Amino acid sequence: MTDLFFNPLEEGYCENPYPHLAELREHLPVHETLAGPWAVFRQEDVSTLLRNPSLSVDSSAIDEADSERLQLITEVLGERPARSTSILNVDPPDHTRLRRLVSKAFTPRAIEQLRPMIQQLVDNMLDAMEAADVPDVVDGLAFPLPFDVITEMLGFPPGNTDELREWGETLVKTLDPIIDDEILRAAVKAGQLMDAHVDDVIAWKRENPGDDLLTALIEAEEDGDRLSPIELRDQVTLLFIAGHETTVNLIGTGIYELLRHPEQAAMLRGDESLDANAVEELLRYVSPVQFSRRISVSEIEFGGQQIPKNAIVLAGLASSNRDPKFWGDTANDLDITRANASQHSSFGSGVHYCLGASLAKLEAQVAIGTFIRRFPNAAPDGDPHWNGRINLRGLEKFPVTLS
Ligand code: HEM
Repeated sequence: MTDLFFNPLEEGYCENPYPHLAELREHLPVHETLAGPWAVFRQEDVSTLLRNPSLSVDSSAIDEADSERLQLITEVLGERPARSTSILNVDPPDHTRLRRLVSKAFTPRAIEQLRPMIQQLVDNMLDAMEAADVPDVVDGLAFPLPFDVITEMLGFPPGNTDELREWGETLVKTLDPIIDDEILRAAVKAGQLMDAHVDDVIAWKRENPGDDLLTALIEAEEDGDRLSPIELRDQVTLLFIAGHETTVNLIGTGIYELLRHPEQAAMLRGDESLDANAVEELLRYVSPVQFSRRISVSEIEFGGQQIPKNAIVLAGLASSNRDPKFWGDTANDLDITRANASQHSSFGSGVHYCLGASLAKLEAQVAIGTFIRRFPNAAPDGDPHWNGRINLRGLEKFPVTLS
């Protein structure tokens, strides 16, 4: 196994990364990848890594040290990049303060109140799909549902969907473990356009406050501690992008897997009480976010390896979700009745555990359950088209026949 190394550029990886991840789990569970970051593939290690408070998520020291990358970004921006203050990129105590400010709208109770709005959106989208000549699960449901829900929650003005979709898709490519200069250049530009747009929306919202999350964030004041303008913009951008670029993969790939496993789809169709567990199992099975990351702030020993200071360490969420040491012999089977399905790693772990987990699950339960029951004869119409992403892996296009 001396030739083995983590190679997500290998032919066919995006369509099916699991055989490669299985080999790595077995033979190279913790290693420094050729692309630079370290990577961890076993369930136990992933879980320990994500919960280790001595690791950081702030990559500013590494970004500063990478002079070529810094130069390229500075060239595109026309100035040195500012440090991201989004909660995904800051450590406690700033993380604790900022997360408290944004988390109120995301409690399970607050999210459950969105159910009628989500059901209405799903019903309208499925009506439109039924009437379409070539219905597509991604364009008709998986993308617009989370996009419309987060737009509505934030109280963004309607419109600009195509531009925002394009910027979001370009930006999240930087979450892949390997990115070339062209992608980086495009992402920096997209980030600049997105920042300017979010600034405009915030300015508009200051004049037009409403009963929405953005108004609440503008007014946010806890213990006399307001968000700074940059912090406000970074949280809004994170919520907006994380709110749809991830859930699209759960709904799109989730429906794809159910159609590939007709016995599972039939079980779900016949029993609504399985909706919640089916979504947990689909989260495990499709891993809409395949990697999370941490930064070593000092040298650490991990899985028998010495990881140096200032290394990026990728936590293999998708690999963890298929580790037979944790899931047993059925790790690679889709089983919507799996008793411990909710123990998946798909939302990460520790203080950065996904803030939108309840929202994503509710959207997926309503979208997938309603789709499967309304279209019992739905089937893929030709091959689906994968989005080519290593981290936010999912379908770009998924044409279906509905009757
Ligand atoms: C299926 C859908 C989703 C998946 C798989 C997902 C996955 C993740 C993962 C893996 C993390 C990082 C956790 C870690 O490093 O330990 C995360 C963080 C986060 N997610 Fe999600 N997410 C989803 C949907 C959403 C939605 C709908 C929102 C809502 C706006 C959201 C907002 C966030 C935020 C704000 C963070 C940062 C939390 C922090 O750093 O404290 N996510 N998510």
